[in-house]
Amino acid sequence: MYETMEALRQAALGCQGCKLCQTRHNVVFGAGNPQSQVMFIGEGPGENEDLQGEPFVGRAGQLLDKMLAHVGLSRQENLYITNMVKCRPPQNRDPEKEEVAACIGFLRNQVHLIRPKVIVCLGRVAACALIDPAFKVTRQHGIFYEKNGFLMMGTFHPAALLRNPRQKPEGLEDLIALRQLLDRQD
Ligand code: URA
Repeated sequence: MYETMEALRQAALGCQGCKLCQTRHNVVFGAGNPQSQVMFIGEGPGENEDLQGEPFVGRAGQLLDKMLAHVGLSRQENLYITNMVKCRPPQNRDPEKEEVAACIGFLRNQVHLIRPKVIVCLGRVAACALIDPAFKVTRQHGIFYEKNGFLMMGTFHPAALLRNPRQKPEGLEDLIALRQLLDRQD
């Protein structure tokens, strides 16, 4: 375990723990305020993220930022955002089990340093890896589960909301529930 985020980031930048290091342009470590009460976890960087070295900066990320702003959350201020894997899976395929296993230590260390009250999983890949392998986003989104001393919730991945905009109101409701929970904890 690294005891500072910068030391951890430096370790991630040099990581060759799986084959994704061969095709990446940048390691996408994470962004936001490490002192936040809430942490968002996506699947893995896409093309824009790989090129810019920052998570959720493409179209899906822009939608997510807009929805988060609606409930008073932003990466500039009060959340931390990262992914299950820190390097882009080619063609945006799902990360493989071995890739998630090779990368999970970085995520664990990030959670250890941030100590968030709530962890929000964006989409099936993160929710299945972190909440329940049988997690069904359409049925279980917006429910808070207590796990290992954290509250965890799974919601729609913003890329899924771009593909299926009819689900946007439900996605927003999940964030409103998150806001209410954070307000109760203050
Ligand atoms: N999708 C993700 O899961 N993560 C990103 O950083 C961008 C798109």
